[in-house]
Amino acid sequence: MASLMKHFKTLALLVLVVNLSYQYHIGDAAKNEGLGASFIFGDSLVDAGNNNYLSTLSKANVPPNGIDFKLSGGNPTGRFTNGRTIGDIVGEELGQPKYAVPFLAPNATGKAILYGVNYASGGGGILNATGSIFVNRLGMDVQIDYFNITRKEIDKLLGKSEARDFLMKKSFFSITVGSNDFLNNYLLPVVSIGARISESPDAFVDDMINHFRTQLTRLYQLDARKFVIANVGPIGCIPYQKIINELNENECVDLANKLALQYNGRLKDLVAELNENLPGATFALANVYDLVMELIQNYDKYGFTTASRACCGSGSGSGGQLGGIIPCGPTSSLCSDRYKHVFWDSYHPSEAANLILAKYLLDGDKTYISPINLRQLRDL
Ligand SMILES: *[C@@H]1O[C@H](CO)[C@@H](O)[C@H](O)[C@H]1NC(C)=O
Ligand SMILES: *[C@@H]1O[C@H](CO)[C@@H](O)[C@H](O)[C@H]1NC(C)=O
Ligand SMILES: *[C@@H]1O[C@H](CO)[C@@H](O)[C@H](O)[C@H]1NC(C)=O
Repeated sequence: MASLMKHFKTLALLVLVVNLSYQYHIGDAAKNEGLGASFIFGDSLVDAGNNNYLSTLSKANVPPNGIDFKLSGGNPTGRFTNGRTIGDIVGEELGQPKYAVPFLAPNATGKAILYGVNYASGGGGILNATGSIFVNRLGMDVQIDYFNITRKEIDKLLGKSEARDFLMKKSFFSITVGSNDFLNNYLLPVVSIGARISESPDAFVDDMINHFRTQLTRLYQLDARKFVIANVGPIGCIPYQKIINELNENECVDLANKLALQYNGRLKDLVAELNENLPGATFALANVYDLVMELIQNYDKYGFTTASRACCGSGSGSGGQLGGIIPCGPTSSLCSDRYKHVFWDSYHPSEAANLILAKYLLDGDKTYISPINLRQLRDL
């Protein structure tokens, strides 16, 4: 009997210890020490594999995409780069335990969604018609419909009140979108000849901003509070634009950059307006335009050897100029030093560039991320 009691005491002690350490971890999480989850919206800059599950011409699940992505052993994942996207890196740096799963992936169920979900889709834009040239893609309206589904799942997993708390305090909502509305809509002659004749740049940008306001407000209604909004990068300077417009290495396409700047000016006002009008929400504006321009203009300062030639798909061996418009794939030429290229393919930054961009957004000053940086946003 005494021995049984002793066993019982040992067991009780064990239960107590396990319980304490369990509570300790929960306590940690509640203290906001790490980011709980990222909900990632946008286009191919942050797509982590949704397009693998769509019949679309915009796909990256072929090698050598993903060649430097450690978790997949260098196999393609659907990310449009050689390694991690900015969304992956930011989540990792802020203490999110796992990458956000693509919404369309079969494993985006159960507790896996508590690390976040990625809705981004190559070819997607703010406007529903954007990217129709790819046949299929998820535009922002659809991405938010999908988050509404996730939202209900989180209620079931955590209970309504804890779910709200988790989404409002421990979750990031990042939106990287807009480039395709220009590149694969307004500026694309076959698709937009009508639109460009009937719509001035002002009217087109107006349309984008009005749709985006509605979309961000819907996310707010679904309890999103910590927002990261990326502006449109210098799309006139990406290798694709240089190739189709037959520019010199250090030239950029004026019209594309002008449209991006026009949109970015209006976006800045929209972000200020939402910060003012949506109580409890913080919108951090990521100045991707100036940031990518800084990398392009001062690439050598950051250890790159080129900001005009893509690593995958341009250069010798694969059809010269044409190589730059065919997507990166098994038959593309591949550079020998992936860490010396700002651009992975004709549209997308390399992982090396993403690491630098992410660092500026995490810890940088108001030049590149305002009103606060991402580390400060997490700790709110
Ligand atoms: C889910 O599946 C994707 C492939 O679609 C994979 O990249 C990812 O690592 C998986 N995530 C989890 C949490 O199992
Ligand atoms: C937007 O496009 C999707 C297909 O991608 C379609 O199902 C939906 O009806 C469209 N929405 C509007 C408002 O046109
Ligand atoms: C979310 O879905 C519900 C229906 O399940 C709908 O009533 C509600 O308006 C949706 N919310 C948003 C913000 O789209």
